[in-house]
Amino acid sequence: MGDHVSYAIACVPGDGVGPEVTAVARRCVDAVAARRGFGVEWRPYPLGAQLWRKTGEVLPDSVLDELRTADAILLGAVGDPSVPPGILERGLLLRLRAELDLYVNLRPSKLRAGVGGAVARHRLEDLDLVIVRENTEGLYAGAGGTVHRGTMIETATEESLNTRGGVERCIRYAADLAARRSGRLTLVHKTNVLVHAGDLWLRTAQQVAADTGVTLDYAHVDAACLYLVDNPARFDVIVTDNLFGDILSDLGAALTGGLGVAPSGNLNPDRTGPSVFEPVHGSAPDIAGTGRANPAGAVLSAALMLDHLGETAAGEDLDAAVSAVLEAGAPETTDGWEAALDAALSATAALR
Ligand code: NAD
Ligand code: IPM
Ligand code: MN
Repeated sequence: MGDHVSYAIACVPGDGVGPEVTAVARRCVDAVAARRGFGVEWRPYPLGAQLWRKTGEVLPDSVLDELRTADAILLGAVGDPSVPPGILERGLLLRLRAELDLYVNLRPSKLRAGVGGAVARHRLEDLDLVIVRENTEGLYAGAGGTVHRGTMIETATEESLNTRGGVERCIRYAADLAARRSGRLTLVHKTNVLVHAGDLWLRTAQQVAADTGVTLDYAHVDAACLYLVDNPARFDVIVTDNLFGDILSDLGAALTGGLGVAPSGNLNPDRTGPSVFEPVHGSAPDIAGTGRANPAGAVLSAALMLDHLGETAAGEDLDAAVSAVLEAGAPETTDGWEAALDAALSATAALR
């Protein structure tokens, strides 16, 4: 393998089940790194509710500067019932997405053998799609405000910001991805009501489709929810705005084994800095500390991270290990998952 590559990976375990699932993901990454012949230098950052309670800080500028120097960032989850809503979510997650220009949130939804549940009635080949969620604009841009707070004329606004450049770069990423897959791209929006932003998204998607030769389809977001449950084979790559992508990706998770197994990559496709990889789920305060957190979403996020770093084979090892564990019957505890993943990864190594 020539010279020994090593990656500096910042790890932000965060709150609730975050530390529980990132511990397993780190262990899996170390295992495939050893086998595939590259090094990993972990740089832990204890950000989250505890730091905020102690110092009032969420993401100190000095920490952000250090994070910028990492090759990638693996994040668990943030959010805690004792912290007012939005402080950690906006102050850490959304700030990272904005500051690091992570304009694509890549959220694959892939049905794997062995996954049960009420909605797992699809054939595996019919549910293997990717949601490309615009990740820095829309209703998440932070535009809006409140006046006359606490009175009967209190008025609150959240404005959805959509720039041509922001929309186009996201759709271009999705079209390139579609071109490498089935050649089919679906825009999901709500052009029948959101006529301003919808028009911008639709015209831009049509232009990008013409430029790249992908086949463009369109669905309103409400209908897309129905189609996802009823006929997911209709989708391969979905591109959509920030809030629709947030909602659709939880639905995609529910269809493929639950939030515990859904991964995501917050990507800076231009590679002007590190990308952030995190499971789709949150800090799950209802099960934190019970030993029942499913680490599969975190491990699959680490697989996306390795793929992004160019360690494709190692990423595939992790993906295959999760599939093998699910097919054999998903363990009910985090420890059970860890042991099963260890065994699956050793078995993969033995086959080579
Ligand atoms: P959640 O994703 O934390 O939990 C939703 C449900 O899914 C809960 O029943 C939970 O037990 C279950 N769940 C989640 N992850 C699981 C796992 N790994 N294994 C098994 N079950 C799992 O969403 P929520 O309850 O709406 O939010 C809780 C907190 O997390 C909030 O503060 C929210 O803002 C935050 N949040 C953070 C992120 C993130 O860090 N990326 C994402 C979503 C929510
Ligand atoms: C997600 C989460 C975040 C989002 C929250 C916690 C800010 O739900 O990553 O899906 O809405 O993007
Ligand atoms: Mn979400």
